[in-house]
Parts: sequence; structure tokens; C-alpha cells
Amino acid sequence: MTAQKTVLVIGGSSDIGHATALRYAQAGWQVALAARDLTTAQRNADDVKARTGVEVLVHELDVLQTDGLAEFVTRLTTLPDTVISMIGELGDQKRAETDLAHATQIMRTNFEAPSLLLGLFANAFQARGSGTLVGVSSVAGDRGRGSNYVYGAAKAGFSQFLSGLRNRMALAGNVRVITVKPGFVRTRMTAHLKLPAPLTVMPERVAADIYRSAEENGREVIYVGRRFWLVMTIICLIPEALFKRLKL
Ligand SMILES: NC(=O)c1ccc[n+]([C@@H]2O[C@H](COP(=O)([O-])OP(=O)(O)OC[C@H]3O[C@@H](n4cnc5c(N)ncnc54)[C@H](OP(=O)(O)O)[C@@H]3O)[C@@H](O)[C@H]2O)c1
Repeated sequence: MTAQKTVLVIGGSSDIGHATALRYAQAGWQVALAARDLTTAQRNADDVKARTGVEVLVHELDVLQTDGLAEFVTRLTTLPDTVISMIGELGDQKRAETDLAHATQIMRTNFEAPSLLLGLFANAFQARGSGTLVGVSSVAGDRGRGSNYVYGAAKAGFSQFLSGLRNRMALAGNVRVITVKPGFVRTRMTAHLKLPAPLTVMPERVAADIYRSAEENGREVIYVGRRFWLVMTIICLIPEALFKRLKL
């Protein structure tokens, strides 16, 4: 009998994290969540258990407390087979233009903290000789736009970190690094925004794509939805002289 595989979802209070935990549990994995909001994470864990019978462990973790990240990794009783970072904060672009503390928090939450944490898991996976890392980034990192460039720049940094880590791990044995770039997803992060229906997906779709790419087909950089890949390809091709005149 093969041992049951384990996944750790960091940002276990998030809507996409909840859907992803459920997807893995449905596939027979052991699931753990890490979150700073233990009430919501426990509610998600209870829901996954009610629907699948899988007992879900919940760990407390504030990723901005970066001094504690190494200890968090070493204290886990089981090093997971797959680690997924859902960490993110959209923030308020207008506020971030003048409030440096807010801009700093968006940058640290979307870039610094998840990069440091996945980097630590990469070292542990390299020492073991196996593992899969999944970083949920965003299409917002593909090109800086006036309406959300603080978040977008941080996601761009995270995508590049994952790219470099994948490059390093390719020469280091059986450790895989997956970058996930959702477009518009209907979650509490976007609840206050009017999203274009044809381009908007539900968290379950992101979860299914994460599972497929991490555990089945092996694609390492994915856009959630071909349509969004096309949209971003066009946006990236617009010449700068024209792009800077657009209100995007
Ligand atoms: N929704 C979209 O349209 C969309 C599009 C592209 C990419 N994404 C990305 O998808 C991921 C999941 O987002 P979502 O839509 O499901 O929104 P969400 O529910 O707001 O998820 C964000 C998660 O990050 C966690 N987090 C933030 N700072 C943290 C910290 N210091 N320590 C621990 N956890 C922290 C939040 O925890 P708390 O509950 O404690 O705040 C929450 O679990 C994010 O990386 C987001 O950037 C979303």
C-alpha cells in the first residue's frame, strides 16, 4: 500500500485555499491548512471534513512574522509532499500611493513573505529529494497598470522568484515549482469589485487547475482560463507609447 500524500495550504482561510483543500481531500490526500485567521481556517477545515471525511489539521501562521518562518517549517511533524501558497493582499492602490506603511504591507504580503517561505520549503524538499511547490501569483504581475501597480509589482516579483526557484530546482532532483496566475476570481478579495462575467471564474475552477497542473499534467506556469492568457498576451504586446495613454 502506498503512503497517503500530504498537502499544506498556506492561507487556509482564503476562498481559493478552501476550494483547493477540498479538491485535494476529494482525491484522497491528507490536508493541512496554515492561517493567521484560525476561526475561518477551522471553519474551512470542518467543511472539508464534513464533505469528504478527511480530518484537516490547522496550524497558526502569520507570514509577515518572517523571523518565525524557518521554525514553522522545521516544527512540522510531517514535511508535506505539496505546499501551496495562497497568500495575498490586494490592498488599496490609491491609499498605497501616499501611505507607505500600506504599500509596504502589500509588497511584503504578496512578494517577500511567500517567497521566503516557499524558499525554505524548497531547501527542505531538495534535502529530501522530492516535493512540489505551488505559488499563487496573478496576471496582475504580467504588466504594471496604473490601477493596481503596487500589488502587480509585488506579484511580478513573486512570479520571478518562482521562475528562478524552478530553474534552481530543475538541477536539484525531483522538486517541482508551479506558478499559478489567476485572472478574475469571485472571492472575498474581489467582492467589492465589478468583475466582467465572461472573464471571471469561481474558486473551484482555480482549485481544479492547481490540482491538475501540480499532480497530473505537470504544466509549470498556468493561467487560469485560456481567455485570460490571450488577454494578457495582447496587453503585454501593446507598445509603451500607447499603453501609458490607456486607463487600465
Ligand atoms: N480573487 C482574485 O480575483 C485573484 C486573482 C488573482 C490572484 N489571486 C490570488 O489568489 C490568492 C488567494 O486569494 P483569494 O481570492 O482567495 O483571496 P483571500 O481570501 O483574501 O486570500 C488571501 C489569503 O492570504 C492570507 N494572508 C494575507 N496576509 C497574511 C499573513 N500575514 N499571514 C497569513 N495569511 C495571510 C489571508 O489570510 P486572512 O484571512 O488572515 O486575511 C487569506 O487567507 C492570493 O494570493 C491572491 O492574490 C486572486
